[in-house]
Amino acid sequence: PLDDKLQYVSDSIRMVPDFPKKGILFQDITTLTRDPKALKLCVEAFVERYRGQKIDVVAGIEARGFIFGPPLAMALGVGFVPLRKPGKLPGETIGAEYQLEYGSDRIEMTVESITKGQNVVIIDDLIATGGTLGAAVQLVEKVGAKVHEAACVVELPELQGRAKLKATNVPLFVLLEKA
Ligand code: PRP
Repeated sequence: PLDDKLQYVSDSIRMVPDFPKKGILFQDITTLTRDPKALKLCVEAFVERYRGQKIDVVAGIEARGFIFGPPLAMALGVGFVPLRKPGKLPGETIGAEYQLEYGSDRIEMTVESITKGQNVVIIDDLIATGGTLGAAVQLVEKVGAKVHEAACVVELPELQGRAKLKATNVPLFVLLEKA
């Protein structure tokens, strides 16, 4: 059972059937972020987890990792690095590909934005199949940094993302599991 705070956060997420496609039950975190109490509790839960853990960088995955990452980075007194969809970042970038049901996708980061030996928390709103987070881990490890942990607000356990991430040996921390 969830404690009262996480229950409040959980209840603040609107579930939208058949979005963006038929058969998908979309977890809409905009109803969480527009509720100041839910937003605060959510960010505080991440801060509590990583305060005092010698984190050097918070890396957030486009798009909704850009919402939860910066307040966490600020609370820890570290910088925030965006991991972006292809073609969005100027200068020299490095990327990692991941497979989708049909085709593949890629995320990119600016080469010097995370450096060898840094201890990184990767954050996103949600883990489904784990493809996105898996690629993010690969990307951060490519530059010789260490992923301390991957963090998400919501896990969809049925989609086995946790098992996929296990192959990377990076621990996964989630606030909520949703069916
Ligand atoms: C969603 C979600 C995660 C990813 C999880 O992003 O915010 O980033 O999918 O799925 P996976 O675990 O199966 O890889 P989406 O692809 O909708 O992109 P967006 O945030 O830019 O809308």
